[in-house]
Amino acid sequence: MLAYRHLFHAGNFADVFKHALLARLLVALGRKEKPYAYVETHAGTGRYDLAHPWARKNAEFRDGIGRLWDRADVPEPLRPYLDAVRAENPDGRLRFYPGSPLVAARLARPQDRLVLAELGREDCAALARFFAHDRRVTVLVEDGYRALKANVPPRERRGLVMIDSSFDRAGEFARVTEALADAHRRWATGVYALWYPLMAPQAMRGFERGVVATGIRKVLQLELSVRPEAWSETLRGCGMLVVNPPFGFGAEAGTILAWLAPILAQQGGGAERVRWLVPE
Ligand SMILES: C[S@@+](CC[C@H](N)C(=O)[O-])C[C@H]1O[C@@H](n2cnc3c(N)ncnc32)[C@H](O)[C@@H]1O
Repeated sequence: MLAYRHLFHAGNFADVFKHALLARLLVALGRKEKPYAYVETHAGTGRYDLAHPWARKNAEFRDGIGRLWDRADVPEPLRPYLDAVRAENPDGRLRFYPGSPLVAARLARPQDRLVLAELGREDCAALARFFAHDRRVTVLVEDGYRALKANVPPRERRGLVMIDSSFDRAGEFARVTEALADAHRRWATGVYALWYPLMAPQAMRGFERGVVATGIRKVLQLELSVRPEAWSETLRGCGMLVVNPPFGFGAEAGTILAWLAPILAQQGGGAERVRWLVPE
């Protein structure tokens, strides 16, 4: 039984970061007519009701999507993400938050395909119900790392793998690194997005060394910290590695993160970083 339930965190700053970048990656993939596959290892339930008691418990969404929802000065690269959130709330009141599968399904075209793995039985059942009538979508109640092995390379030979672990067990940084390396060995030209939490600086350096040691090239590293580096009570920030980023993505991500950092800042934090962890 899995302890982690994303509904407690839905729409928080980490979701804003992750989904805004995800939307950009899919916009870029959709520029070519050829179909693509979207393979997600840790899909969650798809849509989150922010009025649910679990979501309201710590109301993390208030310091996430809540801080953006009414802004009129949103930079252009952030629009596909905000459009996806607005589409779930047509009456203009923020109530439902789209998870990554919904953001992806909204941007995918009829010729594209989505493969979504989720290990939590209840969450997966909700996800399957949600997409029951969408023929582009396959939902797997399965370990995401196993699903990745079975679905990469996809037959389209184009697409995005999203690895969004809940990082709720020891050794997860090593596990995501190995999953990325294994998938990349079998499909070197795919685009990969790997989300991670910011932990103590020493742990982060160990993670970076591990990724560099895989030998994978073209690894863009994006980070957003909303709290100061010494903060350890709750999540202080998060990052994403993007392997084989589409042309122009780094600049768009830079614009998005520079705008988000001061808006999402807490306890005097608020910083972003975009750099090549490993260049071409
Ligand atoms: C951070 S949440 C996913 C949120 C989702 N990607 C989104 O952005 O809307 C992580 C999810 O992974 C699931 N999970 C945990 N371990 C897993 C595993 N080994 N394989 C697949 N799913 C797993 C959890 O049940 C949880 O729903």
